[in-house]
Amino acid sequence: MRHIMVLNSKGGCGKSTLATNIASYFATQGAVVALADYDPQRSSLDWLERRPENRPAIAAVAGFDGGLRHVPRNADILVIDAPARSHGAELTDLVRHAETIVVPVLPSTIDIQATATFLEELKSVGKVANKQAKIAAVANRVRDNTLIFDDLDEYLTKARIPYIAALREAQNYVRAYTRGLGIFELPEYLAWPDWDDWAPLTAWLRSARSQP
Ligand SMILES: Nc1ncnc2c1ncn2[C@@H]1O[C@H](COP(=O)(O)OP(=O)(O)OP(=O)(O)O)[C@@H](O)[C@H]1O
Ligand SMILES: [Mg+2]
Repeated sequence: MRHIMVLNSKGGCGKSTLATNIASYFATQGAVVALADYDPQRSSLDWLERRPENRPAIAAVAGFDGGLRHVPRNADILVIDAPARSHGAELTDLVRHAETIVVPVLPSTIDIQATATFLEELKSVGKVANKQAKIAAVANRVRDNTLIFDDLDEYLTKARIPYIAALREAQNYVRAYTRGLGIFELPEYLAWPDWDDWAPLTAWLRSARSQP
């Protein structure tokens, strides 16, 4: 079973949005998917409760009460939604559960600074330093032609963090979340720009580059 974790100590950068969409992507591709929520806010579990029965099923795993309980034995992929403010021993413990780590980051000065500090800490965690876990950053809620996006682009390039995709700011994410769906499950005429944004991220997740 593969473990894909969405992680950033900065709050509100899109961890739950990415986790639910990654889970829905692999489920629509026919994989057996489980979604673990390590966050007491329960956003991913709340999303799963909204999920319509006629969509590919995703198993719910409550992770925040310590340990991963009830991960189905036949799961191909476990997607983990991590809580904000993870540092130190807690961060090391979280990273223990993942071989692939996706770090969403918003194009704002506050978020870039906070994420820079976080990525330095993450890179020093043994498992990441030893390349037993692969990390990549994803710019989230990007609006075209904003100067701050150039700053983010420059920072990620300099930090030598693989920088995989830029996802636009779009109501589709809110719409999909509310309905227990991912953007891949919205109609093409609405969601094709988001499908295009996701193509490099899903290609990375499917490739050997995202696995130790
Ligand atoms: N690309 C996007 N376009 C529009 N809205 C977005 C996008 N990504 C996230 N959002 C919205 O931003 C808010 C924060 O996103 P989300 O809850 O996924 O972040 P989080 O990192 O999980 O937050 P927390 O740290 O509180 O767990 C939500 O209201 C979500 O719907
Ligand atoms: Mg969240």
